[in-house]
Amino acid sequence: MNEFEKCWLNYNRADIVPEYIKQIDTVICESNSHIAENAVNEVCIAMKDIYGIEINRASSDKTNGSIILKIFDENDQKYAGTFTPDKEGYVIYFVKENNNIIVASASDAGVLYGVFRLFRELIIHGMSEDMLICENPQIPFRMINHWDNMAGDIERGYSGNSFFYDDYKIIIDDRTKMYARLMSSVGINAITINNVNVHKIETELITDTYLSEVKQISDIFNSYGIKLYLSINFAAPMELSDIDNCDPLNEDVVAWWEKATAHIYEIIPNFGGFLVKADSEGRPGPFTYGRTHAEGANMLARVIKPYGGIVVWRCFVYNCRQDWRDRKTDRARAGYDNFAGLDGQFEDNVILQIKNGPMDFQIREPVSPLFGGLKATNIFLEFQIAQEYTGQQIDICYLVPMWKEVLDFNTYATETATVKNIVSGKEYGNAVCGIAGVTNTGNDSNWTGHDFSAANLYGFARLCFNPELSSEEIAKEWAAITYKDDLVRKNVYEIIIDSRSTYEKYTSPLGIGWMVNPNSHYGPFVDGYEYDRWGTYHRADRNGIGQDRTVKYGTGYTAQYNEPWATRYENVETTPEELLLFFHYTKYDYVLSTGKTLIQHIYDTHFEGVDEINVMIDKWKEVKGLVDDKIYERVYERMNRQLYNATEWCDRVNTYFYRMSGISDEKGRTIY
Ligand code: GCU
Repeated sequence: MNEFEKCWLNYNRADIVPEYIKQIDTVICESNSHIAENAVNEVCIAMKDIYGIEINRASSDKTNGSIILKIFDENDQKYAGTFTPDKEGYVIYFVKENNNIIVASASDAGVLYGVFRLFRELIIHGMSEDMLICENPQIPFRMINHWDNMAGDIERGYSGNSFFYDDYKIIIDDRTKMYARLMSSVGINAITINNVNVHKIETELITDTYLSEVKQISDIFNSYGIKLYLSINFAAPMELSDIDNCDPLNEDVVAWWEKATAHIYEIIPNFGGFLVKADSEGRPGPFTYGRTHAEGANMLARVIKPYGGIVVWRCFVYNCRQDWRDRKTDRARAGYDNFAGLDGQFEDNVILQIKNGPMDFQIREPVSPLFGGLKATNIFLEFQIAQEYTGQQIDICYLVPMWKEVLDFNTYATETATVKNIVSGKEYGNAVCGIAGVTNTGNDSNWTGHDFSAANLYGFARLCFNPELSSEEIAKEWAAITYKDDLVRKNVYEIIIDSRSTYEKYTSPLGIGWMVNPNSHYGPFVDGYEYDRWGTYHRADRNGIGQDRTVKYGTGYTAQYNEPWATRYENVETTPEELLLFFHYTKYDYVLSTGKTLIQHIYDTHFEGVDEINVMIDKWKEVKGLVDDKIYERVYERMNRQLYNATEWCDRVNTYFYRMSGISDEKGRTIY
């Protein structure tokens, strides 16, 4: 097993132990469920690691000096005022008279979340006598998607190999438990453990070859309040039996799924459900049989419904065999074109999982119009925590600000239909909705390759719990529980907080995206995908750059939005400038709101991006000696790689557009 660290559960030792903590010598908990046992353990671990105090579990007649974990009742209500915790919510308060700290919830899972929250609070803010923390999670499903393959590699993984699989075997060890602790500590309640691209071998995860081991992982997850899900192969009946098709309306196919599903639940009664990538990038699906996505998803949904399971069906469906000469086929349109017309046709245990943007996790995209198009369908919003197009965990790119923009976006399906209101269930009153994140973890000792990428994993989960938190609050919180020294906390915060903007500056401008090396998706290659079957992206020529997606002259994509967005995006003057080139072909001498021409904007932002990395590196150099040398060096090494990458981007992009446009940089800097 690779060694592993504890990430934000590292619990640095406090220099001073507060009086109220010194008086605590026990933890009381009536429940004996596995989750409750883990909540008790977490209290013991945190007390020891943070304060050096060993405490024991005591019976409930002890009256003072305890951390009491309990099911919420009238007594707690007196403290909680009008707030009542739901099954995953909690109330935390301090009773000064007997020096007890109470963590109460409607279920053991909520208590466990409350325990993690309590210690986070104590580390970051300490405790006041009138401490009262009341919180319910805002998003029902808070899911992590692993793109781990059973061979041991991870699709788009940038932090080592899988910790679930090695050489087609399932790994269950101390790391599995540490992972469950980490996820539970930030409120994740659902995890899929295999790639959405399900190869032949992973198709067998739902069979006896692997089910008993999957169950062991599921049991560990369950004891931390997390349900396990599997990505499945829509063509499993063909792969695993002698049925020669996977037509969702074929009775034999349905019977096959019924039997397979019954068996899964026999072994894993608490199994969560299926995640399906169908008719997408070469994966099998209902299209082959002339069936719709609704027919495909509903077949599985009916099969799994008696067990309380769900089917998460991905909307990442587009034509990846395009002709670049064709200016009408637009990859951005595909999600909406394929799914909006099916609104209202899905079973109530089907959830459509939609990537945040219409393309594929670029540094800047508009919000997918499907969020405003589906009004009678359960939705998961899909973010990519793994930095596939955003620096691959070599470059620092704190993604929370981008995710906040998506969550706050008003789709105008109604006046209040922001993305966060839709995926929290508030807008349409449904309980089966949420957010899924493609994880950035692997078996590197620090879990996320770059130490600072942990801020994205942490931030993703915190936003799922409470989308109202600001990017700044989350970054500060993460820095405060990860690092002990004040200067380190401050500098790390300053390094990450604007790093998304920095990354955007030195890569592709104003909503264009891509310009990356094909396949690997790291490093600059302006024309890398330009004349390609996957889609065409920037259409630069000697006069200008950008994709025309207007109704009037372009692909008509703007019409997929509700008003006022449709009109705003249709017109150059009202399109938000950061998305200008996503919607409009624009001439290099077009003057932006800053007074700069487009070409000058491209030059300036690229030089600025590189300068900003140098500032980040200087901030990190200031903390040498204040963090562990090993951590210092591995971060420093990646920052230098980022500087190299940013310089390469800057030079290539600026040179490309200088040669294309023939317009010199006003400031006379070197462009090759
Ligand atoms: C991207 C990514 C693929 C992944 C796909 C998906 O295209 O590059 O590796 O399989 O997204 O989300 O299914």
